[in-house]
Amino acid sequence: MINSIISGTGMYVPEFVLSNDMFNQVIDTSDEWITTRTGIKERRIEQEKYNYEMIGEACKSALDNAGLSAEQIDMIIVSTSAPDYNYPSTACFVQNYIGATNAASFDISAACAGFVFVLDIADVYIKSGRAKNILVASGEMMHRIADYLDRNNCILFGDGAGAAVLSACESDESQKRGILASYIKCENDDNKHMYIYSKSYQPSEIFDKDTKIFKGNPLKINNSFITQNGRTVYQFVVRVLPQMLDEVTSRANISVTDLDYIIVHQANKRILDYVIEKYKLDPEKVPINIEKYGNTSSATVPILLNELNMANKFKKGDLIALAGFGSGFAYGAAVIRW
Ligand SMILES: CC(C)(COP(=O)(O)OP(=O)(O)OC[C@H]1O[C@@H](n2cnc3c(N)ncnc32)[C@H](O)[C@@H]1OP(=O)(O)O)[C@@H](O)C(=O)NCCC(=O)NCCS
Repeated sequence: MINSIISGTGMYVPEFVLSNDMFNQVIDTSDEWITTRTGIKERRIEQEKYNYEMIGEACKSALDNAGLSAEQIDMIIVSTSAPDYNYPSTACFVQNYIGATNAASFDISAACAGFVFVLDIADVYIKSGRAKNILVASGEMMHRIADYLDRNNCILFGDGAGAAVLSACESDESQKRGILASYIKCENDDNKHMYIYSKSYQPSEIFDKDTKIFKGNPLKINNSFITQNGRTVYQFVVRVLPQMLDEVTSRANISVTDLDYIIVHQANKRILDYVIEKYKLDPEKVPINIEKYGNTSSATVPILLNELNMANKFKKGDLIALAGFGSGFAYGAAVIRW
């Protein structure tokens, strides 16, 4: 039978470091507040590249790591909340940037849960035999959508991109490698706790239905920054994170304590500490890099996956869970045997 394995990983983070102390220049905050409430010490901000170029660099490293050429890629699926263009998709730009001439490319929108969503979709294509090698990538230019005068939110986010190659692998059930289980879900919510308002206009702003006057595009700039009720989002996360870990491990016929690594979306160090505490885990099993990059939205999971892979942390047969969550409320998890 065909299974999907992660054959390569890659990442890109910008050089420019925005430290906690630098925020003092624009908002009333402190390194002490940010560190104790979030675990973040610094984040990166891209000053030259487009988002698709950051993602393209992460994809090139993932291809190198997999030992594949761009022409061998059948599909590119990107998750991003900050595309360079509304269309074509960011994935189409990435395809052109890396020279993946044989691929079909598209984006998905699932906010910070984006990487587990693209992984889930790619897994289905590989297992059905419709694709052999798929690039899954997440890249986020959070500086475009962070309001640097909103101290509740702007200190959380940073820019970066991560990628992985998912490849078809023939294996029998007893020695199955790769994605053992994966699932994604969205919780019904009024979508008022975390969102970015679109810049497009309401119909009534363009055409007055009473006077029948066509007004054209009003010269008005809408707020298109991240709006978040941090406390409500936090409560949602600590409720669903154990649920999704229990669910995905049970689908893989293992338990959470069997996992060698749990790679959780890096939104707040307190959330990661909560997982360690809840399952009484060795902290080494729940790696953290939020202090260096902040919350890079859907890119945190593939960036951390790549850092661990590059540090040769994974041994053949290791059981690894990936878990993401965010606006929507969208969430999902996967279990991989390395
Ligand atoms: C955002 C978050 C760090 C805030 O931490 P918190 O402990 O909930 O803090 P609160 O929002 O209750 O704010 C506490 C106080 O600190 C203040 N504060 C907020 N941001 C501040 C900052 N950057 N510097 C200093 N003080 C700040 C608040 O104004 C508030 O002051 P008040 O008590 O006088 O009103 C936390 O809620 C969080 O991480 N939520 C989850 C976010 C998340 O995971 N989002 C992504 C999902 S993808």
